[in-house]
Amino acid sequence: MADRYLRLTGTAPGRFVTRRLGLPQPAALRRWSERTPELPGPVLRLTAGDAVPDGTGTYGAVVLDAAGVADPEGLGGVHAALHPLARSLAPCGRIVVLGARPQDGGLAHAAAQQALEGFVRSLGKEIGRGCTVQLVRLAPGAAADSTLDFLLSPRSAYVSGQVIEVGPAPEVPAGGARTALVTGAARGIGAAVAETLARDGARVVCLDVPQAGDALAEVAARLGGSALPLDITAPDAGERIAAALPDGLDVLVHNAGITRDRKLANMAADRWSSVIDVNLGSVLRTTGHLLKTGALNEHARIVGTASIAGIAGNAGQTNYAASKAGIIGWVRALAADAEVRGRGITANAVAPGFIETRMTAAVPLVIREAGRRMNSLGQGGLPIDVAETVAWLSAATSGGLNGQVVRVCGQSLLGA
Ligand SMILES: NC(=O)c1ccc[n+]([C@@H]2O[C@H](COP(=O)([O-])OP(=O)(O)OC[C@H]3O[C@@H](n4cnc5c(N)ncnc54)[C@H](O)[C@@H]3O)[C@@H](O)[C@H]2O)c1
Repeated sequence: MADRYLRLTGTAPGRFVTRRLGLPQPAALRRWSERTPELPGPVLRLTAGDAVPDGTGTYGAVVLDAAGVADPEGLGGVHAALHPLARSLAPCGRIVVLGARPQDGGLAHAAAQQALEGFVRSLGKEIGRGCTVQLVRLAPGAAADSTLDFLLSPRSAYVSGQVIEVGPAPEVPAGGARTALVTGAARGIGAAVAETLARDGARVVCLDVPQAGDALAEVAARLGGSALPLDITAPDAGERIAAALPDGLDVLVHNAGITRDRKLANMAADRWSSVIDVNLGSVLRTTGHLLKTGALNEHARIVGTASIAGIAGNAGQTNYAASKAGIIGWVRALAADAEVRGRGITANAVAPGFIETRMTAAVPLVIREAGRRMNSLGQGGLPIDVAETVAWLSAATSGGLNGQVVRVCGQSLLGA
């Protein structure tokens, strides 16, 4: 699982040799820890079209409000604001452009606001040094607080080139500790999600197949949570989850997933159906049961796990990509459902790119190395990067995020 190349370029001789050979120079990402809870410098806030301050300090982040850019000429204000700063952003710094939804104005507004997407995605690809660039589109009446907290922190280290829409958030009454269920929590991304939600104060219930019982019990015990050994595809999985949660559920993270790769011509029906059932069918069944029986509390947060394979497609993964694209369709439909919305429940998805886990360690070396490097940050992500994104989407304060699919892929070139 270790990225030896990243380690090599982290040493002076390694850097010297790889630079001379013209090889990629991935930056060591600054991730959240108690020692590094903040970005590496102050946040500069600007508005497109306003005078740009003289001099260029070194900033940890720049937030540019471009929501008022209403025509192509107004885009000049975006260039004027960020051109002098693009080089002076600290390593692992952030640029966040705030925009409006293209549909919330006339033709010129739509063109100018959509233009911001091309701008942000391109800047993300060229800025380098571990910096990230995002566009946050605000619907009328929306506030981006929880989203900016996330994007302007080291917790979003591996999220770049994303366009995130924030709507108005219903008021959430203050409550005690929330209960979170994480499927596939015995290892990999799921264990990191459970750990991160526990860090943020949730009581976690960790679910995984009975065969993973020892690892599951160990994760749950470490986090002061409980273990629920259960195959998520069991016909009564919804009932058994509900029975384990007498006080209902506030956060439901569908993370369990499998791959059974083969080209379609060589894929037997059981490889197809097992992947569709674990990754998608069981997600719909169990959530349907929890919604129907009221086991999902008001203002609950549902987070599905998609994949960039579900966005870009991947040879040998027709089953897996279909299941992951299905997750995207499902969270969007759930987010638009009047009854679900009426209860303040949100549904979003993360779409991981190449994350260093046992799943990707099993990928053949050459494909693995390509997967690691083919993104703007030049490296694979870590389970914690997905976990931090899930924690943000499932926060009580993230009620304005609904139907979003956030890629945690270092701005992968796949499906870009
Ligand atoms: N690792 C990556 O690069 C990557 C990329 C994109 C998406 N994903 C997705 O992220 C999720 C986690 O991936 P990972 O890399 O940590 O995988 P992993 O294989 O390390 O962990 C998956 C966990 O899910 C559990 N699980 C599988 N089938 C189950 C079932 N029927 N019932 C209950 N639990 C079950 C497994 O026992 C395992 O503990 C998956 O949905 C995966 O498709 C991973």
